[in-house]
Amino acid sequence: MSDTQYAIELRGITKIFGEIIANDKVDLTVNNGEILALLGENGSGKTTLMNILSGIYHPDAGTIKINGKEVVINSPKDSFALKIGMIHQHFKLVEVMTAFENILLGTNNKLNRKKAAEEIKTLCDKFSLKIDLKKRVCNMSVSEKQTVEIVKVLYRGANILILDEPTAVLTPQETQNLFEILRAMKKDGKAVIIITHKLNEVLEISDRVMILRKGKSIDSIETAKANAKILTEAMVGQAIDLEIERPETEKEPHALDVRHLSVKGADGRMALKDVTFDISSGEILGVAGVAGSGQKELCETIAGLHKVEKGAILFKKENIVGKTPSEIIKAGISMSFIPEDRLGMGLVASMDITHNMLLKSYKNSKGIFLDRKEAKKLAEDLVEKLSIKTPNVSTPVRLLSGGNVQKVLIGREIESNPQLLITAYPERGLDINSSYTIYNLINKQKQNGSSVLFIGEDLDVLLELCDRILVLCHGEVMGVVNAREVTKEDLGFMMAGQKISDGGENNG
Ligand SMILES: Nc1ncnc2c1ncn2[C@@H]1O[C@H](COP(=O)(O)OP(=O)(O)O)[C@@H](O)[C@H]1O
Ligand SMILES: [Mg+2]
Repeated sequence: MSDTQYAIELRGITKIFGEIIANDKVDLTVNNGEILALLGENGSGKTTLMNILSGIYHPDAGTIKINGKEVVINSPKDSFALKIGMIHQHFKLVEVMTAFENILLGTNNKLNRKKAAEEIKTLCDKFSLKIDLKKRVCNMSVSEKQTVEIVKVLYRGANILILDEPTAVLTPQETQNLFEILRAMKKDGKAVIIITHKLNEVLEISDRVMILRKGKSIDSIETAKANAKILTEAMVGQAIDLEIERPETEKEPHALDVRHLSVKGADGRMALKDVTFDISSGEILGVAGVAGSGQKELCETIAGLHKVEKGAILFKKENIVGKTPSEIIKAGISMSFIPEDRLGMGLVASMDITHNMLLKSYKNSKGIFLDRKEAKKLAEDLVEKLSIKTPNVSTPVRLLSGGNVQKVLIGREIESNPQLLITAYPERGLDINSSYTIYNLINKQKQNGSSVLFIGEDLDVLLELCDRILVLCHGEVMGVVNAREVTKEDLGFMMAGQKISDGGENNG
């Protein structure tokens, strides 16, 4: 047995898929009571490496030691037996079952249900996990589902926890909750590996950062000695400018005028209450707010997908309330909404990139709708401009990775040159270079004189990219502020329900 007994010790792990070397002689160690962040750009091999630990893939070379003992993991069952628990990017819960049933699934069913419920409650208290055991998974928010997954692996006795991009679908508050849970696990002596794209999260939660680049393990850095710049450069292998540009433009006010807009949400309650604001041409208006503050309804209402109770939406001085979505698109409004499930909206998974281009009614310079050949050309341009990783433009979209699907989606909307681009969470889950590509594209829209409504979740990005920021809380506008002047703290107060009366005058 070696001197240091790591919870996990990987040496020379290699995994090859056809021609792709997903993991190339990767070394990785994690101690008990340590939180390790696994950082790397899209496609750098993070998920593959963790899937090897969870028994989904078998490595082509290399050794795995768990608590100092060399092991072979042939199946998820083997992985469980070694007390490894993985929370996947896409949850594997049974939707029609309750939390309780999901947690017990696969365990000894003959056990005393009452006792099991008590054990689960004790576990939840210990790690400050909050779940309603009787609730069906299909009625849960993403964050609740994630909590069920965590309870499930802990209940099976996991000592090593692996979370694959767990925060990509969480609000800042939910993320903080999750971090509290991870800290409790660490205190309990568990080894935790967290995969995330977000540098400030890495800096906040981890003890050490392991960086993967193009399948190779680059470095392991103590988090205390790291900063965003050091991590980014290790990740992309080159110096990178972390500033987001905010170009100055000529602005014409009232390109879009939303007046006293009220709409009902899916639950029948008012999702937007008397919302009034405007966007100039050549302006990016950011929308900040905790998740579920009415952002979704706002986007959908402007795009004609939601019934209006009261109010008006004037686009180029014409009221578009009551028009159909396709009439609204024809008027020059385009929406790219990145839902929690990226393939849920706007793209057809089984179609290739070219066909997905054709779904949108682009016109060529002669004003004629694109034919297959022109659409193919457009698809190829997009693949090049956004560095979309795909064998070719005939590959079905569902075979692309999440980040690449997202680039196709937003690329298609921007390529149609809308006069108003509505975009929600366009950088969600994307790596740094791709995020900056998206910001540049949005800025280009602004410089072309378009208006942009940018629904964001990262306040730092909103503050750097946008001209003004509208803050929503429970469907109400708390204020519209100048992004050049407002502080993050003030935005936080507004997001929590504090109204401000001035600022944000739109002086064109
Ligand atoms: N089952 C698979 N078949 C073929 N290629 C795969 C498979 N899984 C992953 N890959 C490829 O391996 C590389 C690493 O992917 P992945 O581990 O998912 O990266 P990450 O999680 O860092 O984004 C990518 O090029 C990806 O396309
Ligand atoms: Mg991954």
